[in-house]
Amino acid sequence: MKILGIYFSPTGGTRKVVEHVCAVLAERMSTTYRLQSYTLPTERERFVSITNDDFVVWGSPVYAGRIPNKSVEFVRQLLVGKGNRGVAVAVYGGRHYDNALAEMRDLMLQGGITPVAATAVVARHAFAPQELSPGRPNVVDMQRLSAWCHQVDFSSDTVVQVPGSTDLGYYRPLRADGQPANFLKAKPVIEVSLCNGCGICVSRCPMGSIVMESGRPQFLSTCIKCQACILSCPKQALRFLDPDFLSHILMLRSVIGD
Ligand SMILES: Cc1cc2nc3c(=O)[nH]c(=O)nc-3n(C[C@H](O)[C@H](O)[C@H](O)COP(=O)(O)O)c2cc1C
Repeated sequence: MKILGIYFSPTGGTRKVVEHVCAVLAERMSTTYRLQSYTLPTERERFVSITNDDFVVWGSPVYAGRIPNKSVEFVRQLLVGKGNRGVAVAVYGGRHYDNALAEMRDLMLQGGITPVAATAVVARHAFAPQELSPGRPNVVDMQRLSAWCHQVDFSSDTVVQVPGSTDLGYYRPLRADGQPANFLKAKPVIEVSLCNGCGICVSRCPMGSIVMESGRPQFLSTCIKCQACILSCPKQALRFLDPDFLSHILMLRSVIGD
């Protein structure tokens, strides 16, 4: 058996967690691991199918208490096994993972993979990584994760029990005043005087929604608010100015401790 880590990770937190889980499980089994990302369009194009021999470590970030809505179709296409076993790892920013593990369990089962264990791990919140769960996952998080890895029963046929249900829908973000925050249509805004036209944002967008026009990025319609473009911009030329989005970050500041 080999360990196969599969993940979606626009800002790197999920990747870090999945790689750690794979390394510990591989060491335990005296085997090797490999990683496959389905974050970027190019990565999805060259995704190699799961083989019979793979024990699957699937990691996904939590968006609005579920897995990223737009990533579900990729998961359905790529997370396809033939009676493989695996584990689900939800990576969240410290508010809550709500129904994400339930959704991951269901998608694994639908894809022919038995989830024998599941866990949720805190990572810095992509909306404001210096302020919301900064530095997570930290040393203690990683130690706990290692301990969890040592409990995984590779040969179990029992589907893991997880909290939540996909019938319960998505988390609805709130503004600082407690009213619903609607930033579904928000997109990053570019400070043209700072942009040097390097195109890193174009290469980091999981939805392929940024194109270069006249040497400056233009944002097309589909934005999943993952923050990959914003956090990867070497000139800090991109930001969200949507008032509901900014107000939601204020609200998160009041509920997420360090
Ligand atoms: C659009 C969006 C929605 C999010 N929703 C939640 C949430 O409901 N609960 C939570 O605790 N963290 C939430 N987060 C934080 C992410 O789960 C966290 O930053 C995660 O590490 C991102 O994964 P990545 O670093 O692999 O991109 C959200 C982040 C984004 C970008």
